[in-house]
Amino acid sequence: MLQFKKSDLCVEQVKLSDIAERYGTGVYVYSKNQIIENFESYKKALGTKSGLICFACKTNSNGVILKLLSKLGAGADTTSGGEIYRCLKAGFDPLKIVYAGVGKSAEEIEYALKSKILMFNVESFEELDAIDKIARKMKVKAKISLRVNPYVDPRTHSYIVTGRKGTKFGIPYKDALRAYLLAKQKGNITIVGIHSHIGSQILDIAPFRLAAKKIKDIVDSVEKNIVKLEYINCGGGLGIEYEKDQKAPSPKQLMSEIFDVFDKDRKFIFEPGRSIIGNAGHLLAKVLYRKVSGSKNFLITNVGMNDLIRPTLYKAYHEIVPVRKTNSKKVKTDIVGPICESGDFVGKGRMLPVVEQGDYLLVTYTGAYGAAMSSEYNSRPLLPEILVDGDKTTLIRKRADYRDLLLNEI
Ligand code: LLP
Repeated sequence: MLQFKKSDLCVEQVKLSDIAERYGTGVYVYSKNQIIENFESYKKALGTKSGLICFACKTNSNGVILKLLSKLGAGADTTSGGEIYRCLKAGFDPLKIVYAGVGKSAEEIEYALKSKILMFNVESFEELDAIDKIARKMKVKAKISLRVNPYVDPRTHSYIVTGRKGTKFGIPYKDALRAYLLAKQKGNITIVGIHSHIGSQILDIAPFRLAAKKIKDIVDSVEKNIVKLEYINCGGGLGIEYEKDQKAPSPKQLMSEIFDVFDKDRKFIFEPGRSIIGNAGHLLAKVLYRKVSGSKNFLITNVGMNDLIRPTLYKAYHEIVPVRKTNSKKVKTDIVGPICESGDFVGKGRMLPVVEQGDYLLVTYTGAYGAAMSSEYNSRPLLPEILVDGDKTTLIRKRADYRDLLLNEI
């Protein structure tokens, strides 16, 4: 849905230069129809199988986007009380909300129980204990899956690997049966399934297959000795094509690997985040200044690591494109932000056409973990967000201002 019309780069039918003039820059711009297409491809892949596609709302928690997905039939994968709150406000059925995370606080557990969510994905023995105790106090039963760490390395960036032995996530593989036995003995716990999520931005199908097989072994033992598991939650993690030479498996390929491993009468849960919203959103920036320092050409833009931290934190690659096509020659350029840190960059060593002061640049595929991970560092107000639908634009988050910076100060 990102396309050139003559010389103008557009999201759907809308020229990005028009968005820049109307709403200012930096600004996050999303394509509604790309989100729908991405979600529908998961729904289609699930087909007639019983289950849920739970959008991992840590990737992007804008209420309008959440509402759109809930209307399309999505469930939600949440990771905090705040995310549960946002999802309920956006209209998600609580019975489609799952809740993972290694550090659920007592207040969050209580809030999730009060909200009657579908299930907790429990990540430790002590958390199991805590949920049981709180549920007993509230005189309710807590539905849980155990998040099992299958000891599978998806070989993605080390910060976003979760299924390898020795990470903080899930119940260690070797302890899984013992955890199920213990859960079975708890008075206020109802075991409903199993969960596993091995990492993010995974472009290789093999680790998904391996994890499914290892989880299947646990399912077999649990069902033989302890309890029937209604839900198999396979997590998220499917990568997207940030770079031209990358090839991501489709939801269909992912699911057929998994359905091959398990028998038919299961309820499957998938928790995609990046592959729903990643390529549907982009960050629009303006060139403030140009500079040559040492042997390097710098473009200094008005978006920085507070607006998009992925390049700084993971050395993540986002393609950067001028929103007007030019025939000018390409030069090697570092695209940086205004923050007072040398780690503040959007892209390094990129071959970009010569651009002028005031030109607009699009930092592409920043819909996932872009706005959601932004901060006010250097006292920079949070950016606005725009949803494009055909030739229509809607402001879905207004630009914050200086007063917002002081909002909660006493
Ligand atoms: N389920 C669970 C339990 C997760 O922890 C995650 C992501 C997902 C689902 C969604 O994964 P996805 O489909 O989006 O790969 N901030 C990093 C990514 C962190 C991933 C955290 N967990 C980044 O910008 O690359």
